[in-house]
Amino acid sequence: MADVHAPGPLVLGIETSCDETGVAVVRVGPDATELLFDAVASSMDEHARFGGIIPEIASRAHLEAMIPTVQHALAGAGVGLTDIDAIAVTAGPGLVGPLTVGSAAAKALAVALDVPLYGVNHVIGHAAVDELVHGPFPERLMALVVSGGHSSLLLVDDIVTGVTELGSTLDDAAGEAFDKVGRLLGLPYPGGPHIDRLAREGDPTAIRFPRGLTAAKDQAAHAYDFSFSGLKTAVARWVEARQDAGEEIPLTDVAASFAAAVADVLTAKTIAACRRNGVDTLVIGGGFSANSQLRDLAAVRCAEAGIELRIPPIRFCTDNGAMIAAVGAAAVRRGLPPSALDLPVDSSMPLESVLV
Ligand code: KG4
Ligand code: ZN
Repeated sequence: MADVHAPGPLVLGIETSCDETGVAVVRVGPDATELLFDAVASSMDEHARFGGIIPEIASRAHLEAMIPTVQHALAGAGVGLTDIDAIAVTAGPGLVGPLTVGSAAAKALAVALDVPLYGVNHVIGHAAVDELVHGPFPERLMALVVSGGHSSLLLVDDIVTGVTELGSTLDDAAGEAFDKVGRLLGLPYPGGPHIDRLAREGDPTAIRFPRGLTAAKDQAAHAYDFSFSGLKTAVARWVEARQDAGEEIPLTDVAASFAAAVADVLTAKTIAACRRNGVDTLVIGGGFSANSQLRDLAAVRCAEAGIELRIPPIRFCTDNGAMIAAVGAAAVRRGLPPSALDLPVDSSMPLESVLV
């Protein structure tokens, strides 16, 4: 049970950008932010049969899950609603309907409790949550945020006031590419974890798939950008050619060679960015950071380059309330002004605006 009389304001974080209703309570302590409890309800099971997230179903599920999930988080933290000193909520990017349900709940709570409200950038939350797990960030770090919706490389001088977007995907996000290749290989949705599992049994050097935006000509404009749609097409062509020839598809080798190409590009560009910016700490976040091929290659390449690698445990890599509470806590710690009570949601919120 948390000691509600311990020093430091309590921040309630609410996340509803996609299919997870996440609510967490953190305490802004003198040296570090402490996670008191993190509660998550997911509607993924309701989307799986459609092969993708259906926004209307997600919105309704958030509406139904919101009050029980807030109650669960408060009970788990051992605090009451009136102990909360600030509310943080995802303002974007994400699905407009789900974002609107979360922001309406957050606004209602902020008005009822008469506490400040912070509208937070979801992608930054995926990096910020690592402070709750591995302690305060150093002065400068690199963050690679990879999920079904984003693949972004961020130079972080301050997690609220100093985020620079170095690059992002020009087409599919890493997880999205895995899910699309999963579909073409006939795997259930979402395909990412299935490809990961198959890849562990295959030969990553069996097929040389293309590494997008790594040619010398791409260095000027796209040194830190990613592109996975050409890779996905290359896998499709390779599989079709074998099918047309009546050959069996070596699923584990295709998965391993595809996963190796994605992990290679993500880690090579990220480590080059660390080197060129003199950064020796890398945080990887987002649901795709569960991927074994990425984790293994990042560990090897960071060790070679003398870079400290920080990856939160998987439950903090998928969408959750703690990541939003972490950004809210960082804003409270810095004494930043809160957002307006009529803050808008922004489905394509730019990464360099951490708060609205
Ligand atoms: O962050 P997240 O839970 O939701 C989004 O905000 O998108 O990320 C989910 C994405 C999905 O595309 C899923 O297939 C992928 O991450 N993913 C994986 C693995 N675990 C999740 N992809 C590859 N290997 C995994 N182990
Ligand atoms: Zn996310």
